[in-house]
Amino acid sequence: MNISDYKTYISAETMMGPNSVRILAELFDKYPLPSAPDDMILDLGCGTGLTSLVIAKETGARVFANDLWISAKENERRFARWGVAQQITPVCEDANNLHFEKRKFRALISIDSYHYFAGSKGFFLEKILPFMKDDGVILIAIPGLKDEYTGRAQELLSDWLGDEAYMFKSPKLWKELIGSNSRIESVKTWEMDCFCKAWDDWLATDNQFALGDKKHFETIIKPYTCFVGIYIRLKKMV
Ligand SMILES: C[S@@+](CC[C@H](N)C(=O)[O-])C[C@H]1O[C@@H](n2cnc3c(N)ncnc32)[C@H](O)[C@@H]1O
Repeated sequence: MNISDYKTYISAETMMGPNSVRILAELFDKYPLPSAPDDMILDLGCGTGLTSLVIAKETGARVFANDLWISAKENERRFARWGVAQQITPVCEDANNLHFEKRKFRALISIDSYHYFAGSKGFFLEKILPFMKDDGVILIAIPGLKDEYTGRAQELLSDWLGDEAYMFKSPKLWKELIGSNSRIESVKTWEMDCFCKAWDDWLATDNQFALGDKKHFETIIKPYTCFVGIYIRLKKMV
């Protein structure tokens, strides 16, 4: 996928952290998502819907753009302005209590949000897996701790994140938290390559949260954290 196709959509209005389009591009390049127009894809924690737009354009599938902090009305207006209202359905629900039909989605994508709600063992198996079709794919990218600092988030990140430091977990720990199940074929977690570029794009904005992050980038964010990629492939059932 070519990030520059989406340059006009990546703005102070749509960015909520490190460049989500760049992060999504790395996931798609590593694990291309085969999909058909009648496939349904859930963008979980989609924020302003920037990634939902990219998913819709890149796959041609029908996208459900779910977020908690941004209302469905606000995203609906943006999708209409972008000309994708027919292809993307905005939803505003807590990921802990989703109301979709069981086995609806061929894929789930979640950028920079899964760590807010999914950090307990069993979350994936209980709250997400039931909504996925057999042979489905889950692609997640979240900020986390480098593997060598596993378990030291509070000690290393509190000056930057305060009481939210516990949400940052290493790729190794995320693999354990996803867990295993007879429907899961494989789980892979890794430190993503796009870390520096995605952060540079965010720190170049004058968003007030970016200005706060800038103060801690060289001393905390860059030495201890990474972007964790998570790929989960579900089994084909016969
Ligand atoms: C940092 S923003 C990232 C948004 C977007 N994915 C992006 O990369 O620009 C984190 C998002 O996670 C969403 N979120 C946090 N807790 C959630 C929950 N319990 N259920 C659904 N979404 C949640 C918020 O609404 C917020 O938009």
